[in-house]
Amino acid sequence: MTYSNILVDYQEQIALVTIDRPKALNALNTLTLQELSQVVEDLANNSSVRVVILTGSGEKAFVAGADIAEMNMKTPLEARTFSQLGQKLMNQIESLPQPVIAAINGFALGGGLELAMACDIRLASEKARFGQPEVNLGIPAGFGGTQRLPRLVGSGRASEILLTAELFDAQEAFRMGLVNRVYPKEELQEQALAMARKIAAKAPVAIQLTKSAIYKGANMDLISGQDYEAEVFALAFHTEDRKAGFKAFLEKSQTEFQGR
Ligand code: CAA
Repeated sequence: MTYSNILVDYQEQIALVTIDRPKALNALNTLTLQELSQVVEDLANNSSVRVVILTGSGEKAFVAGADIAEMNMKTPLEARTFSQLGQKLMNQIESLPQPVIAAINGFALGGGLELAMACDIRLASEKARFGQPEVNLGIPAGFGGTQRLPRLVGSGRASEILLTAELFDAQEAFRMGLVNRVYPKEELQEQALAMARKIAAKAPVAIQLTKSAIYKGANMDLISGQDYEAEVFALAFHTEDRKAGFKAFLEKSQTEFQGR
């Protein structure tokens, strides 16, 4: 399937998804949100894909936010629908069975940072710049940023970012734990692929159950989260990969996990 604003490239078990509106710094308009949602739905049903990398097209931006020109035309009711469309996409990415690595190649602002925050792991180019500048436009963040940012960096730091609208660089994002690693611009994609390959070589069901426990647990109290963890732990014991993984360890050999 081809899209107007999204490119999907497959490298063995890895899907590289690129938001491709470089002239608008990959801003998220309705069409881009809808296309990305379709891509995510297709990936959810594609068991040959074990890891997804999400990045932006061009030299400057990962995603510079929701599309300001399009939002300018919206009534309050249409704005609510737009916000919900973005939120739904972020939730869809978060609940995708496969891990998603954001390769943040430039500006990650507003809806762009919200998109990165819906991913499991964030890798950044040293040229990347971050921020939630919505209040400069007279609006709050609307694609989950007021909720995910405090959960990721704590409410004090999140409040400063959301209330001052100040942009910050990749090293600062790294210091606050918002991005996992920072690389020279030209190394980012290769490093993202290397991490994706590493994850893709692990037992896929165990990877999916781990992702699920992390996200489900984030919305539960500790005891309920541990109950869920015990359930997914037990579930993994039904898999062939569990048997193969234990056997390989005990026999000091290697195994290739089959995802079943
Ligand atoms: N929406 C629509 N178009 C955008 C855009 C956006 N978020 N960001 C950039 N563009 C467009 C610009 O309008 C410009 O288009 P033209 O060439 O047709 O004029 C093109 O991309 C290049 O941008 P600039 O000329 O502005 O590039 P720059 O290097 O001078 O500045 C920038 C880069 C600092 C990222 C600047 O573009 C900028 O501030 N962009 C807006 C960032 C922003 O406010 N994002 C939040 C949006 S609101 C939101 O996301 C709400 C939400 O939570 C759901």
